[in-house]
Amino acid sequence: MSNYIKLQNNLEELNLIHMKNNLDKYLNLIKEGEKSFVDALYELSELEIKAKEKRAMYSCVRVANFPFLKGTEDFDFDFQPAINKQEILDLKSLRFVENKENILFVGTPGVGKTHLAVSIAIEAAKHRYSTYFIYFYDLMSQLKKALLENRLEIRLKHFAKYKVLVIDEIGYLPIDNDSSNLFFQLISDMNIIQMV
Ligand SMILES: Nc1ncnc2c1ncn2[C@@H]1O[C@H](COP(=O)(O)OP(=O)(O)OP(=O)(O)O)[C@@H](O)[C@H]1O
Ligand SMILES: [Mg+2]
Repeated sequence: MSNYIKLQNNLEELNLIHMKNNLDKYLNLIKEGEKSFVDALYELSELEIKAKEKRAMYSCVRVANFPFLKGTEDFDFDFQPAINKQEILDLKSLRFVENKENILFVGTPGVGKTHLAVSIAIEAAKHRYSTYFIYFYDLMSQLKKALLENRLEIRLKHFAKYKVLVIDEIGYLPIDNDSSNLFFQLISDMNIIQMV
C-alpha cells in the first residue's frame, strides 16, 4: 500500500475528513509550486478547524434552543443606523457576561432585536457559556406549571443556572401579576447564583 493511501487512511482514522477530501487539491498546488508545504498543511488544518467550529456551532443551536442561526455578520448595520455597531460588537466580546450585566433590546417590530440577541447568545454558546433562548410566554408557562406542581424552586434554579438566558418577546402580551412575580423571582435567583 502506498504512503499516499496510508495517509488517506490515517486522515480518515483521525476523522480529518476535510483534510482527506482536499488532499489531492493541495498536493497538486504544492507540485505546481503554487503553495509551500507549510502553507498547504496550514490551510488544510484550517479547513478542519472551520468545520469543527461549524459543528460546535450547530450543536450549540440544538442545546440553546435558538429560533434561527444568524450572526452580526448577517446584520445590515447600514440599514439600521440607529443601532450602534460598536456597542453590539462590544456585547459580542461577552464582557457583559463576566460583568454580570443585563442587556435589554427595545424597539418596534422587525428591527432586529431577536436577531441581535441571538447573534450575541451564539457567541456566548460558542465560548461554552451555558446559554438558552426562550420566549417569555414559554418561560412563564413552565414556571406557572412548576408552581402548581410544587416544584417551582427546582424550575427556577434550572433557568437561573444559565450564564446567558435570552428571554424574548417580553411584553408582547400583557404581563399578569403571577408572571411578574415569577419573573422577579427568576431574576433575583439569577443574581444570587451568579454572585456565588
Ligand atoms: N438590519 C438588519 N439586517 C439584516 N437582517 C435584518 C435586519 N433587521 C432585521 N432583520 C431580519 O428581519 C427579520 C426580523 O428581525 P427580528 O426578528 O430580529 O426583529 P425583532 O425586532 O425581534 O421583531 P419583533 O419585535 O417582531 O420580535 C429577521 O429575519 C432578521 O434577521
Ligand atoms: Mg423578536
